[in-house]
Amino acid sequence: MTRHFLTLLDLSPDEFRALIKRARELKQLQHQGRIVDTLKHKVLGMIFEKSSTRTRVSFEAGMTQLGGAAMFLSPNDTQLGRGEPIEDTARVLSRMVDCVMIRTFEHEKVERFAEYSRVPVINGLTDLVHPCQLLADMQTFFEHRGDIQGRTVAWIGDGNNMCHSYINAARQLDFQLNIACPEGYDPDADILAAAGDRCMMFRDPMEAARGVDLVVTDVWASMGQEEEQKLREQAFSGYQVTSELMTQADEQALFMHCLPAHRGEEVAADVIDAADSVVWDEAENRLHAQKALLEFLLT
Ligand code: CP
Ligand code: NVA
Repeated sequence: MTRHFLTLLDLSPDEFRALIKRARELKQLQHQGRIVDTLKHKVLGMIFEKSSTRTRVSFEAGMTQLGGAAMFLSPNDTQLGRGEPIEDTARVLSRMVDCVMIRTFEHEKVERFAEYSRVPVINGLTDLVHPCQLLADMQTFFEHRGDIQGRTVAWIGDGNNMCHSYINAARQLDFQLNIACPEGYDPDADILAAAGDRCMMFRDPMEAARGVDLVVTDVWASMGQEEEQKLREQAFSGYQVTSELMTQADEQALFMHCLPAHRGEEVAADVIDAADSVVWDEAENRLHAQKALLEFLLT
């Protein structure tokens, strides 16, 4: 059966941990200049209906490094933008390439694509979840602090796609997640409920951050919500991750952000730009974690 990666729940907890382990190996090999060509002659098709820097470059570089190739497809210059059905696109592309990555708005679209695809489909972000980012974030935590099982993470800000993926990661890797969102911006009730007592909701970000091992945030207005920017700046004004908030957390607490970041909005510059900030490792790990994911799905 074809395996897809549409949410973190498509992996078992053991598979998730094995991916992190392989990602760390691949990173070491890459840093030593060793060639790993486990995906020789394999082709990844990448459909982007939203902007991207990290996702595009990490998948494209990753495929090349593993001996394969990646193809960037935008709706503007494919028939998708002219209304060719997603089902037909899935049937055709999956007869030509070995794997398809999609970044789009509606999550239902990647599900429909996967239903009609003969090859593995990877979710490169939807309005609902961003599972690839969590592979990199978890790799980063493991590298700096060891296994995350039994630790506590604070999510500060919007109950958005990244927040949903943190909720799923808490289920998979068995950590506690404190979520602080302003009223009206809570995560999806079903996703939250499925995590049971692994997640706790807060209104006060300071309270949510108390004693935690990792503080995470994301932009206040995600892609597709640009016209809500002003409204959201007001709603989220008490939710900036500041150095004061970081002092509530454990002394050893890490700060993460999937990027791109808006300094002075969801995060203060001195937090993200701190000398020991791990956000650049986190961004780099997109490459290694997704190489491990591609190997897992394609070999
Ligand atoms: N974090 C992330 O997915 O970045 P891009 O939007 O640049 O791909
Ligand atoms: N929540 C953000 C993440 C970007 C990587 C968005 O969807 O725009």
